[in-house]
Amino acid sequence: MSTMKAIRFPKFAPDESTLEIAEVPVQAPAAGEVTVKINYAALNPVDNKVLGGHLEGAGWAHPIPFYPGYDFSGTIETVGEGVSGFAKGEKVFAVNWGEGKHDDSSKTIGSAFAEFITLPAKKVSKIPEGLNMKTAAAVPLAGTTAWQALDKGEVKEGSKVLILGAAGAVGMIAVQLAKLRGAKVFTTCSSRTLEFVSSLKAADTIINYTETDWSAEGGEKDFDAVIDTIGEADVFTKAKKVLKSDGAFVTIASFDAGFDPKAHAPLRFASFMCLSNDTKVQDDLAALIVAGKLQVPLNKEMDFSMENVKALYQVQRDGKSVGKNLLVVASE
Ligand SMILES: NC(=O)c1ccc[n+]([C@@H]2O[C@H](COP(=O)([O-])OP(=O)(O)OC[C@H]3O[C@@H](n4cnc5c(N)ncnc54)[C@H](OP(=O)(O)O)[C@@H]3O)[C@@H](O)[C@H]2O)c1
Repeated sequence: MSTMKAIRFPKFAPDESTLEIAEVPVQAPAAGEVTVKINYAALNPVDNKVLGGHLEGAGWAHPIPFYPGYDFSGTIETVGEGVSGFAKGEKVFAVNWGEGKHDDSSKTIGSAFAEFITLPAKKVSKIPEGLNMKTAAAVPLAGTTAWQALDKGEVKEGSKVLILGAAGAVGMIAVQLAKLRGAKVFTTCSSRTLEFVSSLKAADTIINYTETDWSAEGGEKDFDAVIDTIGEADVFTKAKKVLKSDGAFVTIASFDAGFDPKAHAPLRFASFMCLSNDTKVQDDLAALIVAGKLQVPLNKEMDFSMENVKALYQVQRDGKSVGKNLLVVASE
C-alpha cells in the first residue's frame, strides 16, 4: 500500500502548535469515490476555527485526529467502482465539505492538506479549459458560500443589496456575483483595501467602514438583502435598521439572528447559513472565471512543508488576507 504526507492534529489548540505532518496510507476509493493527487489546496478562516475546537463546540462531527483542508485541485489518480465520467489524469477541483454543516453521511470531510485525497465523486468538478489549477483550488469553498448566500437572500436583477466585507474571499466573490445578477451593490471595506475593492468594478457604492458606520442615521436604507461575511458586533440589530421590512438578512459569520430563517417575520429570511457541496455551483463559478467575469485573486502561496503550513495558518488567522492563501502540494 502506498503512503502519503498529510497534515493532521491530534488535539484542539488556539494556534498551530498541535499541527503535525504524518506519513499515512493513501486510501483506496470505495464505491462511488475517487482518489485525487493534489496539486494545490487553499486555506479558509474555518481551518483555524476547526483547529480551535469551535466546530465541535457547535455540535458538528469532528473526529480526532482530524485531517484538515477543504479546497483543492489536482488530477484523478484512481476511480472507484460505479463512478463514471472521470479518468486517471483528468484535472479536477472540489471542496470536501458537508451538507450545510461539518458532517457528511458518506465519510469524514476535510483532508485536503495532503498529497492525495479520497472522497465521493459527486463532490468533484472537472477543471475546464482556461481555468488554471491554482484558481480552481481557491474558488470552491468561498465561491459556493457566496453563491448560496445570494440565493438565500434572493439577490437578483434590480435587488438593492448590502454585502458586508468585500475584501474577504467570500465577500469579493459575492459582490462580483451580485453585480452579474443585475443587483445594485453596496459594500464595505477599510481604507487599506479600498483600492482593491474598487478594482473589482462590482460595487456601485463602497462604504469605508473605518470612516462611516453603514447603519448610521441618514445613511443608505431600504435594502432588499444584507449579506454579512464579517460577523461584527450587533450586526443583526444594525442590519434591521437598513433593511426593508420584508428584507433578507443572510450571515455566514454571526449567530445573532439564530438558525431559523423564518423566526424574524416580516423579514423573509434572517439566519446564519452554512455552505453545502454543490458541483453545479462549482461548475458555474468555473465558467464565470473562464469567461473573464469573475476574479479570485491569490494572497500568498507556499510549498508543502510543516513550517509553511503553520505560517499559512497564521496568515489566515491575521484576518488581513486579500485573496486566497494557497498550499502548493505539487506544482502543476
Ligand atoms: N458559514 C459559511 O458557510 C462560511 C463559509 C465561508 C466563510 N465563512 C466565514 O466567513 C468569514 C469570512 O471568510 P473569508 O474567507 O471571506 O475571510 P477572509 O478572506 O480571511 O477575510 C479577510 C478580510 O476581511 C476584511 N474585514 C475584516 N474586518 C472587516 C469589517 N469589520 N468589515 C469589512 N471587512 C472586514 C479584511 O479587510 P479590511 O482590512 O478591509 O477590513 C480582510 O482583508 C469568516 O468568519 C469565515 O469563517 C463562513
